[in-house]
Amino acid sequence: MKSHFRRQHTFSLIALGAFGVGMLITSATPTQAADDQPTLSMPKINPERGKMLFAERGCVVCHSVNNVGGTSGPSLDASNLNIPREPFEFFARMWRGADAMLHLQQADLGYQIDFSGQDIADIFAFVQDGEVQERFTQSDLPAHIGEIIDNGPSIPAD
Ligand code: HEC
Repeated sequence: MKSHFRRQHTFSLIALGAFGVGMLITSATPTQAADDQPTLSMPKINPERGKMLFAERGCVVCHSVNNVGGTSGPSLDASNLNIPREPFEFFARMWRGADAMLHLQQADLGYQIDFSGQDIADIFAFVQDGEVQERFTQSDLPAHIGEIIDNGPSIPAD
């Protein structure tokens, strides 16, 4: 009884293995892979809209561009940005800084910044567009954001 079960079990494993190898071979066939590849869609990026969001959403409270903005975080001037101009690397850096950013956002802004994928794509476009950044001035800041910057940075909560 016991050995009968084991035999059946072993057979199932072999069958499963054969099926797996079959699947691997099928999916490795180049023509099939090309047909099945999902099409990636990247959003269109708009640095002008990003400029508005950078100020309005409050990135500027801690990051300066063109000498406008706070200094709690590193400056995000395109001219001396040490981040590769590649969106995924940009997000990875933001993610790494997330802990510090979230603490400071609660302290300085009183809320966590929210954005859609399109918003963040446009902010990325602005951060690496030196020409649009040259036109970024104090007058781009909404009143309440300007006030937070004037009041000075918060001591980070620990
Ligand atoms: C309340 C302050 C604060 C706000 C608001 C803020 N950041 Fe930051 N950010 C920081 C700090 C501080 C760091 C550095 C964290 C570290 O070094 O660990 C940072 C790091 C980053 C980095 C990585 C920089 C590098 O050189 O690796 C990027 C990119 C970034 N922030 C983008 C943004 C964007 C875009 C926004 C707005 C959506 C934003 N930040 C809002 C404080 C802030």
